[in-house]
Amino acid sequence: MFRTRTCGELRISNVNEEVTLAGWVQTVRKFGAITFVDLRDRYGITQLLFGEELNALLDSNPLGREFVLQATGKVSERSNKNANIPTGDIEINISTFKILNRSAVPPFTIQDDTDGGDDLRMKYRFLDLRRNAVKKNLEIRYAVNRAARNYLHDQGFMDIETPFLIKSTPEGARDFVVPSRMNPGQFYALPQSPQTFKQLLMVSGYDRYYQVVKCFRDEDLRADRQPEFTQIDCEMAFVEQEDILEMFEGMVKYIFKEVKGVDYIDQVERMTWEEAMWTYGNDKPDIRFDMKLANLKFPAHSFPAKENKESLIGGVNFKVFDEAETVIAIAVPGAAEYSRKQTDELTEWVKRPQVGMKGLVFIKCNADGTYKSSVDKFYGEEKLKAIADHANAKPGDLVLILAGAEERTRKAISDLRMELAERLGLRKKDEFRLLWVLDFPLFEYDEAGNRWVARHHPFTSPKPAHIDTMIINNPVIDNAAEYLRHPYAGIKANAYDMVLNGNEIGGGSIRIYQRELQEKMFAALGMDEEEQKHKFGFLLGAFEYGAPPHGGIAFGFDRLCAILGGSESIRDFIAFPKNNSGRDVMLDAPSAIDDKQFQELQIKLDLK
Ligand code: AMO
Repeated sequence: MFRTRTCGELRISNVNEEVTLAGWVQTVRKFGAITFVDLRDRYGITQLLFGEELNALLDSNPLGREFVLQATGKVSERSNKNANIPTGDIEINISTFKILNRSAVPPFTIQDDTDGGDDLRMKYRFLDLRRNAVKKNLEIRYAVNRAARNYLHDQGFMDIETPFLIKSTPEGARDFVVPSRMNPGQFYALPQSPQTFKQLLMVSGYDRYYQVVKCFRDEDLRADRQPEFTQIDCEMAFVEQEDILEMFEGMVKYIFKEVKGVDYIDQVERMTWEEAMWTYGNDKPDIRFDMKLANLKFPAHSFPAKENKESLIGGVNFKVFDEAETVIAIAVPGAAEYSRKQTDELTEWVKRPQVGMKGLVFIKCNADGTYKSSVDKFYGEEKLKAIADHANAKPGDLVLILAGAEERTRKAISDLRMELAERLGLRKKDEFRLLWVLDFPLFEYDEAGNRWVARHHPFTSPKPAHIDTMIINNPVIDNAAEYLRHPYAGIKANAYDMVLNGNEIGGGSIRIYQRELQEKMFAALGMDEEEQKHKFGFLLGAFEYGAPPHGGIAFGFDRLCAILGGSESIRDFIAFPKNNSGRDVMLDAPSAIDDKQFQELQIKLDLK
């Protein structure tokens, strides 16, 4: 037997036991005639004591960091206890040892606060994975995986695998494609999600399906996006939206309970998409803190029309507000005492190209009830107070106002809200607020292509009352800026997202299940009959053979794990992730392939 115990389990109650441990050498400390070695394995660290006799042996066989060592000895009480580790009361008085393997000097220290930079750690990911911090993340990932599976199994869901080599039907992101040797000139695509398969499984009668499954999307990467990521993908038949919301609220609560050990979540709040956009400026609001948007001026084309607060800001000839499409304010708690330097810095922040605003107006609501602003020239105290009141500002708060074109301004104030909350410590890592965002628009206007695309995906059902508004054949818009007025902008879907602390962790919808309506939807997206048949003939065909009403959802498994682990970077929660350019720097992939492979595939490269 290689070992009788692990490096994480011995305590004072084990004193005098004879044990054999095996693991990696973390540190070697020599004190005259004796040597201390910290031995590490997946379970922890145990101190080994090499006495005088063995010390000579160690001199001729020096131990280096990350050597693989097997050591036998007696558990004894330590004179110098270490309260920071669970095994800190004991050490092993070694009688025999064996070096099982040597190690080159690792390129960075395998410790919590390592000296290795990101790139180096990615290149040597197998060493990085030995670190406690990374190991803890993978343990969380496994705990979430187990909890989700247990819950879904108990609810009668069946795990069914679906293929990875499928047909390319890009919608949303780009497909990754795979050439077929046996069918020269033809390509498979890797699935962006198992969407159509899970719907077909509903037609087949497997009324509760789930899969913890890899999805592949060739899109620009960010901290919360990887080209291959994992979904907890689910579908149910004979359900309405409410059934799905309840089932998956249950799942997320169960996961929190299992992974965090307590009843963290007593309720999942709900908000319509409209409300999220108007009061938080985005469709995945972080509701751990307030700082709601105070709309002072809506764009003229708002649909449905909104009540403007122009009386508060107009009539003083302040051109910045008068000429803006949208004016929005937020109150920053306790920030009235910001110095000139601090407000200047905020102004620079909103002027950065990523945010793209021309400037920032502020009103300081002083604790003594007076008001001071960057626009005192235009607004008297009474007007400043009225604006501050509308923004729900209290004495001591700072009101920030942005003005400009609708989309940019709303996004900018939403970004500013998050930035300030971060700076004020309001985005607490150990607080979790869950939210359903409901009633998403069915369509989204794609400005570059001047066309309407599906907001979620083309299998999402419209609200029944809105079906008649779906005019066939993707009506073209003459004036792109006017698209919000188009009837399509008001069509809502039976679609929902789950949002955790400002992150979209899941999304789904009730699906279309009648062939006619599905054809109407495809047509509304500008797909003619030929294209429909070519791309989705299999699904339309299946809908002719008794498709039940159905709906589902997919959770971003990596994101859920990351947030539960107190991070927003999913990379840290994936054993072998890609970097921001989509590369695996350890494998050095993607890479060129052999000429022979090209020949077999009958493909010639023609790089531009
Ligand atoms: P959707 O595209 O919204 O829905 O994806 C579901 C969830 O997956 C996560 N996610 C990602 N995570 C990491 N990297 C990515 N590149 C990435 N893209 C998405 C998000 C998201 O909420 N088939 C539908 C689901 C359905 O309708 O049932 C779908 O894939 O957390």
